[in-house]
Amino acid sequence: MTKKLFIKTYGCQMNVYDSERMAGALSAHGYTATDLIEEADLVVLNTCHIREKAAEKVYSELGRVRQLRDRRRADGQDVTIAVAGCVAQAEGEAMLQRAPFIDVVVGPQAYHRLPEMLARRGNRGPGIVDTEFPIESKFDELPDALVPAGPSAFLTIQEGCDKFCTFCVVPYTRGAEASRPAGAILREARTLVQGGACEITLLGQNVNAYRGTAPDGTGWGLGRLVRELAEIPGLARIRYTTSHPRDVDDDLISAHRDVPQLMPFLHLPVQSGSDPILKAMNRKHTADDYLRIVERLRDARPDLALSSDFIVGFPGESDEDFRATLRLVERVGYAQAFSFKYSPRPGTPASLMKKQLRDPVKTERLAHLQELLEVQRRSFDSASIGVQMEVLIERDGRDPGSKVGRSPWLQIVHLEGPDLRVGDLVTVEIEQLHARSLGGRLLGPPAQRGRAA
Ligand code: 5AD
Ligand code: SF4
Repeated sequence: MTKKLFIKTYGCQMNVYDSERMAGALSAHGYTATDLIEEADLVVLNTCHIREKAAEKVYSELGRVRQLRDRRRADGQDVTIAVAGCVAQAEGEAMLQRAPFIDVVVGPQAYHRLPEMLARRGNRGPGIVDTEFPIESKFDELPDALVPAGPSAFLTIQEGCDKFCTFCVVPYTRGAEASRPAGAILREARTLVQGGACEITLLGQNVNAYRGTAPDGTGWGLGRLVRELAEIPGLARIRYTTSHPRDVDDDLISAHRDVPQLMPFLHLPVQSGSDPILKAMNRKHTADDYLRIVERLRDARPDLALSSDFIVGFPGESDEDFRATLRLVERVGYAQAFSFKYSPRPGTPASLMKKQLRDPVKTERLAHLQELLEVQRRSFDSASIGVQMEVLIERDGRDPGSKVGRSPWLQIVHLEGPDLRVGDLVTVEIEQLHARSLGGRLLGPPAQRGRAA
């Protein structure tokens, strides 16, 4: 008998990847995925802890799922409720105390045990919790990704973080840095490409801290891994996210020079442009270190575009500290960026710092920074007008015959291409600038054809 599985995924791409892998593991136990929560026999909330009041939001969502279960129970059906991800990890047993109707609480390192936990849980008794960091790796236990959802696939190569930035919960929820063996990654990448993927984004909380055991017994860093992946026929695009400036090494920089498949777009969070704030954040780099890395990357790959994360209003941030951030943004010139008001996360050192800033100050600084970043984004996009670039077709557009794809710099590109299919790589001349995307004209037949009909 098949059961229906509904997974709601919050947060980062690593959670998206984990959700796919959980679905894969559960499909071996008779579950098929559904997009309709109303028909689900098993609801998994794969949660994220990075935003403010993350746990509160999960509890209110759980309240709604419980109502759904009550309705289904009134009809003689049942729903099993599982909470996964970083809120599950952080809350652990406390979740069952606050929401005793939950069946299973499972942390990100224990997903491979989910089918067994569900079986153990059965129909009665208290819910069960597994937030351990088991010795066996979940990657060895979970089945490989089956068929990629589209031409662009994610592949987790590394998890966890040893950096302990003072504002961040990740080192507590995802644990210490751990890298998957290179052989397993290459195997999974080949499976994804055979299944129709032509772009792979390598994922990790600290992806460029990657140091995995290689088939030859040595350790490979990210640069070497990228070079090996580039040997896979049909894999046209390689990306990686999220990197830490401290772990950008010479080999990775030269991979940007040597490997054409490595896309010229890099998300390299800096968080702040002020050295005292970077120090208080325990970022382990100065503003100058960051600028020098950017310069070296651009020497290696002159068309490299950058993106970053910023936090404004970190405890103790003065007007001058904030101006230093604006100066750094001016110096780098970002293609896009994410920016946040600092908000204290329980259990992190920064939440205990004395000089917490008032919200209006944070709001004003955020608006100011976002204005600058928006100007830069627009100017980056405007500079694409008249440029010929390769676009990977990702889906049909709204109008018949229209298609939507992505540029090497992750810009969304709309074009007319009735004969194109998803996964095609085409050359396009950019002609229009829309609010959050570009419009282009197809210049010829695809250089590489997609698998999807
Ligand atoms: N407050 C605000 N932003 C945060 N981030 C992480 N923790 C906090 C926090 N306590 C942001 C950082 C990080 C991104 C994923 O979320 O900029 O790079
Ligand atoms: Fe969090 Fe810093 Fe680690 Fe990034 S590097 S996950 S911000 S602790």
